[in-house]
Amino acid sequence: MSAWIIVGLQWGDEGKGKIADHIAKDADIVVRYQGGNNAGHTVVVGDKVYKFHLLPSGILQKKQVMLGAGMVINPQGLIQEIETAQKNFDSINAVIDPRAQVIMPYHILLDEVVETKSGVGNIGTTKRGIGPCYADKASRTGIRIEDIIDEKRLEEKLKEILPTKKAILEKVYGVQDTLKLEDLLKEYVEYGKKIKPFMGDVSLLLDNALRNNKKILFEGAQGTFLDNDFGTYPFVTSSHPLAAHALVGVGLGPNVIDKVIGIAKAYTTRVGSGPFITEMNGSLEEELRTKGNEFGTTTGRPRRVGWLDLVQLRTARRLNNVSEIALTKLDVLSGLKEIKICTGYHKGETCLHDLPATIQELGKCEPDYLTLPGFDFNANEIKNYYELPQSARKYVEFIEHELNVPIKLIGIGAERMQLIKKV
Ligand code: GDP
Ligand code: IMO
Ligand code: MG
Repeated sequence: MSAWIIVGLQWGDEGKGKIADHIAKDADIVVRYQGGNNAGHTVVVGDKVYKFHLLPSGILQKKQVMLGAGMVINPQGLIQEIETAQKNFDSINAVIDPRAQVIMPYHILLDEVVETKSGVGNIGTTKRGIGPCYADKASRTGIRIEDIIDEKRLEEKLKEILPTKKAILEKVYGVQDTLKLEDLLKEYVEYGKKIKPFMGDVSLLLDNALRNNKKILFEGAQGTFLDNDFGTYPFVTSSHPLAAHALVGVGLGPNVIDKVIGIAKAYTTRVGSGPFITEMNGSLEEELRTKGNEFGTTTGRPRRVGWLDLVQLRTARRLNNVSEIALTKLDVLSGLKEIKICTGYHKGETCLHDLPATIQELGKCEPDYLTLPGFDFNANEIKNYYELPQSARKYVEFIEHELNVPIKLIGIGAERMQLIKKV
């Protein structure tokens, strides 16, 4: 390994955290490249459950972790995670890029009011201020980590920015906000003091690391179809989870990457609004939600559940140029008599094998299903791939064949060790 990327192939929550923890054993540095604390990555070790929102899960393997320039950082959340990690692991080695954006209280307020007011177009965001923060970054009115370590600079910026934000909140959304410049300044300068010791140029450090043959793991957050360009827009996040963005997000060129590992659940989930062609609805959805514990790691919201969608995965393979796949949560399907898998879409007489480029077209698509025999196994008794029931292997191999990408790892339970290699 020199540089590997882990990327979600669906709508997030595919089990990236668990796979990152596994692969991080062989890495020197684990880095997040985009998104913020809208992410929630879970790793279960014995009876301990670790949840990460900003720090890469690779911290559990006591590796150096980095947060790249492409991220949006809630400093309060970050400090809490750092303090918890310091308690859990004695010491940590973390680097935060000064170019990363800072989520401010007005971003969170705006995210909340826009979500509450927008009605039909309601995205179902995590209300962490992600969209408004990325919007400010693009408008060049964002606050960066470098700004909160410099009181004078922060004061100047806030003097310029705050009146506009207050006016929007009050006059457009009718929110009588209580944001005071002095309070914000005091609070964020304190955060800056705590974050300053971790600040470093992630781009430069990673470049040096690669030159010294160090191994870097990019831990993706969100998923392919939450990408702001290629996802189910507008029901997406405000950043770019796609593998290609890993390089932009940390400040490296594309030719350093030698593997892209796509993570897919053995079925599909989505939290938040937007099209979902293979959504189940009804008692089976409820059953799988309970069995798979499909409740948001960040917000606790119930996740919508559906069958595996090969149209979606084929498209995700292309968008990320996936080299291999880790298929998670196969155990959740265990016990079903039959399993449906979406092999294509039809739109009237037309058959589609890739996701259409427009959401209007997607809205007219219906799934074509193939029904495969179900399987039943006790995860505690499975030590290798060949101990899986034949019909479970057939399911895995059918996916592999349809996507023409090898499945190398299979998740058969939430615990760290419940992962088998497919050889
Ligand atoms: P991430 O955002 O992609 O890291 O995924 P999340 O952590 O938000 O959600 C995945 C959930 O599935 C977590 O609760 C994991 O503990 C759990 N999980 C991961 N892999 C497996 C698996 O193979 N089987 C089961 N049953 N649970 C898994
Ligand atoms: P991980 O890294 C699942 C979804 C939200 C919403 C949309 C926009 O744990 O896989 P945002 O708050 O980003 O503006 O919300 O994106 N979303 C996620 N869904 N997993 C995530 O991250 C997500 N991050 C954002 O539910 O539909
Ligand atoms: Mg998650």
